[in-house]
Amino acid sequence: MPDTNLILDAIAREMHTGVLALDKDGRALYANPFLLNSFPIRGGALGLPVGAIIKNEALGATIDGFIKSRGGASEEIEINDSGRFFSARIVPLAGEADFSILVFLRDITEEKRVETIKKDFVANVSHELRTPLASIKGYSETLLDGGMDEPETLREFLRVIDRHATRMSRLIDDLLILSRLESHQMSIVPAPVDIKELVASTAAGFGKQSMDKGITITAAIPDDLPRAAGDRDRLEQVMVNLLDNAIKYTPPGGSVSITAALAADGCVTVDVADTGIGIPAEDMPRIFERFYRVDKARSRELGGTGLGLAIVKHIINAHNGRVWVESVPGKGSTFSISLKTWG
Ligand SMILES: Nc1ncnc2c1ncn2[C@@H]1O[C@H](COP(=O)(O)OP(=O)(O)O)[C@@H](O)[C@H]1O
Ligand SMILES: [Mg+2]
Repeated sequence: MPDTNLILDAIAREMHTGVLALDKDGRALYANPFLLNSFPIRGGALGLPVGAIIKNEALGATIDGFIKSRGGASEEIEINDSGRFFSARIVPLAGEADFSILVFLRDITEEKRVETIKKDFVANVSHELRTPLASIKGYSETLLDGGMDEPETLREFLRVIDRHATRMSRLIDDLLILSRLESHQMSIVPAPVDIKELVASTAAGFGKQSMDKGITITAAIPDDLPRAAGDRDRLEQVMVNLLDNAIKYTPPGGSVSITAALAADGCVTVDVADTGIGIPAEDMPRIFERFYRVDKARSRELGGTGLGLAIVKHIINAHNGRVWVESVPGKGSTFSISLKTWG
């Protein structure tokens, strides 16, 4: 039979929850390594009052209450300690002579971070949907209030309404793609992908858009380029998003060129280079974030959702690939992706 004390000792030592045992006067009898790592105290915690170990008023008050009443129901409080968050469960162990208190501390910093991201996301989505909706409402009200009688106004306002409705539906499409990617409903099924064919067919889909704007698209991809390992439909989505941006953010008369090569690391690299407005250095680290745009008004004006690059990043990450950008403001940008070869 193994010694239960040894086992209990090992549990307290190895667990990723802080454990602090206090005597009847609230002084530390025991602190496990997780607690001491989270709240380091030179010379150890033994014999110290709880306030000298964890500086938190609510915790101190709760423990004082338990000491006075020699018991009570366990309580849970949240502790914010220089940027980290803990959930503390305080459990009084009733007993005449040997009254003591146990404190369990769980690090919930990561949970909090995810919670904040979710809240921000919901706030962003609501805002993004409200803006076009407010315009649709405003224009239709004006039409109903008599604006309809002038054919010119009617046509112009309907066009605006149509444009905002299109943007809303594009936003919802992008949100659905992101959410399916994130919930892994849209799984990546790797297969050999012919990059030359993929690029040619995606670029063809932008023929009208680029011609209307006076932008030339060229693709130069070697015939003997090895096939990439990937999910063709998802990679097409990546190319669509990159080409859409390249054309949108390049003034008339400019050009977009797509090249691909087998890199020194054995991966296939695809570059989408434009001669557009470029991206300021300070915005570069953030452009792959959801809803981040260098110029919100311009992006909206061009029908953007601010989710295109977030989707690109997600898909490429799911391929264990890499995506990066180089840009010179006023000169142009090059977005690159790197994928493993098939076989
Ligand atoms: N080729 C590009 N040239 C200049 N800026 C770009 C380019 N691609 C992306 N950006 C910047 O990154 C932002 C995010 O891109 P994206 O997620 O596709 O959103 P959207 O195109 O809907 O605005 C854009 O708003 C723009 O500021
Ligand atoms: Mg985009």
